[in-house]
Amino acid sequence: MNGITLLSTGKALPQKCVTNNDMAAIVETSDEWISSRTGISTRYFCQEQEQSWQLAAKAAKEAVEKANISVEEIGLCIVATMSPPFATPSVACLVQRELELPSDTLCFDLNAACTGFVYTLETARALLATNEKPYGLLIGCESLSRIVDFSDRNTCVLFGDGAAAVVVQRSNSQFFAMHGAKGNDKALVCPGYGAEKQYLTMDGKAVFRFAVESIPHCINEILNASSLTLEDIDYIVCHQANRRIIDSVIRQMKAPAEKFYMNLQHYGNTSAASIPLALADMQQQNLLRPGAKLLCVGFGGGFTWGASLVCWKEKE
Ligand code: ACO
Repeated sequence: MNGITLLSTGKALPQKCVTNNDMAAIVETSDEWISSRTGISTRYFCQEQEQSWQLAAKAAKEAVEKANISVEEIGLCIVATMSPPFATPSVACLVQRELELPSDTLCFDLNAACTGFVYTLETARALLATNEKPYGLLIGCESLSRIVDFSDRNTCVLFGDGAAAVVVQRSNSQFFAMHGAKGNDKALVCPGYGAEKQYLTMDGKAVFRFAVESIPHCINEILNASSLTLEDIDYIVCHQANRRIIDSVIRQMKAPAEKFYMNLQHYGNTSAASIPLALADMQQQNLLRPGAKLLCVGFGGGFTWGASLVCWKEKE
């Protein structure tokens, strides 16, 4: 068995929901500007006592409970994040402690910026192919509010915090993946802890151009590799950065808009957490039938990109 299927999801958000009008009290902006340029209405920000690893653990617990499996059967725990609270221990190890995952679980964090969760899918597929245990726990979690400059209106209105988890199972179902990176060190940069200027900076127009080129490329590559058409795909779940990016792809590809799931209006851009958060909301909204074909597409910092075609559970 060389593929994986998705079994269940869980999600966790910080307590504080921040509206566009709340952002207008921090920087010179408006609900009109943010909504029309991005589609974002609200986002959540961690407060001082809240840590992204706590959100990750909460989301993971929910996903494991919904999958109705024992933690003893989980062989790996991978957390996609670009805003971990510590260099070490990894968020994955903190989740391991909280969920009491067995000591032989492979636990590590993965950073591919906003493409991180898509990278975890292919990583889990490859690792589960040789793991004794059938299940993997994949998490996207971010506390971007800790690395955003709240005096820079170009960036601070775009991002949000949150976590979501997915339990995957080794399976024979269809699975196709493609990935890449361009080694870009200019368009989206965050020097991080200890640096003089530690905040995230972005060339919004360059990111926009990259996104609207890479998403159709990813979708077409996967369709070619799988000999499927857009009609065969139940949902395309893109990284939720900006409504205008997704709308532009829909126009470019002349694709049916209803296949492109969007929930960025509620959470803003949550980087590596955005695709699993979309999957969690889709499960909550009963949009996922067994055997549904989901095409997850990510793009992000470093100019990484990737896509995975994966099924929701086995066909009944
Ligand atoms: N409120 C009000 N005005 C603003 C704001 C704000 N929050 N931010 C910028 N502006 C102003 C600018 O200062 C500029 O003013 P000026 O003309 O007087 O200089 C004006 O709005 C237009 O700025 P642009 O940068 O041209 O705005 P644009 O239409 O390109 O939209 C945006 C900016 C939304 C960032 C767009 O470039 C975009 O969608 N880029 C994609 C980037 C993205 O989504 N990144 C997410 C993170 S990366 C990732 O997830 C992979």
